[in-house]
Amino acid sequence: MNAKVVVVGSLNMDLVVRAQRLPRAGETLPGDSFFTVPGGKGANQAVAVARLGGSVAMIGNVGDDDYGRQLHRALYVEGIDCQGVSTCPAMSSGVALITVDAASQNCIVIIPGANGLLTPQSVRRFDALLQAAEVIICQLEVPASTVAWTLARGHELGKQVILNPAPATGPLPADWFAHIDYLTPNESEAEALTGVVVTDQDSARRAGERLLQLGAGKVIITLGAQGALLVTAQGHQHYPAPHVQPLDTTAAGDTFIGGFAAGLVRGLEEGEAIAFGQRAAALSVTRAGAQPSIPYLAELTP
Ligand code: RIB
Repeated sequence: MNAKVVVVGSLNMDLVVRAQRLPRAGETLPGDSFFTVPGGKGANQAVAVARLGGSVAMIGNVGDDDYGRQLHRALYVEGIDCQGVSTCPAMSSGVALITVDAASQNCIVIIPGANGLLTPQSVRRFDALLQAAEVIICQLEVPASTVAWTLARGHELGKQVILNPAPATGPLPADWFAHIDYLTPNESEAEALTGVVVTDQDSARRAGERLLQLGAGKVIITLGAQGALLVTAQGHQHYPAPHVQPLDTTAAGDTFIGGFAAGLVRGLEEGEAIAFGQRAAALSVTRAGAQPSIPYLAELTP
């Protein structure tokens, strides 16, 4: 069966430490626990699509190591089409060093490893997957040239193209915007993309309008506990977040995006798909880790 969603992006092994607080520069802190779980924004989003009712294929790279085999298997057991997951010889897998504090805040350092070798040519080899899809999702943990090529190809094929601009370090190339149907930054990413400091709905609307002016089709700015704001040429709509007690927010954004995409391909209206993604993300933040925190459809069905 052809996958309706294709994710082009990263796979990382997450090395997670929980501590009472995040360390300051030069400081050594005792931690509370350590665990190793599959992650990576691309892989997390693919897992979210699969668990939340969408068929999905992943295009990405792992290294020729134990982490790579575990990352590959983590997708395979979810029923994800992994023909586009390649192993790079003599290369290590991507890793993310994550510290989570008692207030559920995190900080993450990423070593791209094999993710950094995902070229436009390596995505083009799986063009049949892109052709068969309805929705194509990218993030920014693989080379920019690959993201650019995939966005352009998705647009050329008439697919719904979602760019999750994470992690964002500055403005996006101007020629990307016309190829993006949904741009989905969080507060800090929206600020990096626009220069607008996003703290609430009003500042999110201003950042969203700036991104529309630059050429994005629609913008969904996720605001954590403050919900999400959809900004379109027709106006804006706020979606409140379900109230939960957060334990670990890692992969909350990925769960939202995967849930949103799964909702779209299951035939939900845009607003219903946003609310569905929010419910999934809310449940994910009550659990530890990236992929282990992502809920299944049955957990969201009343
Ligand atoms: O979005 C969360 C993810 O960011 C983690 O799983 C980590 O791998 C980093 O890519």
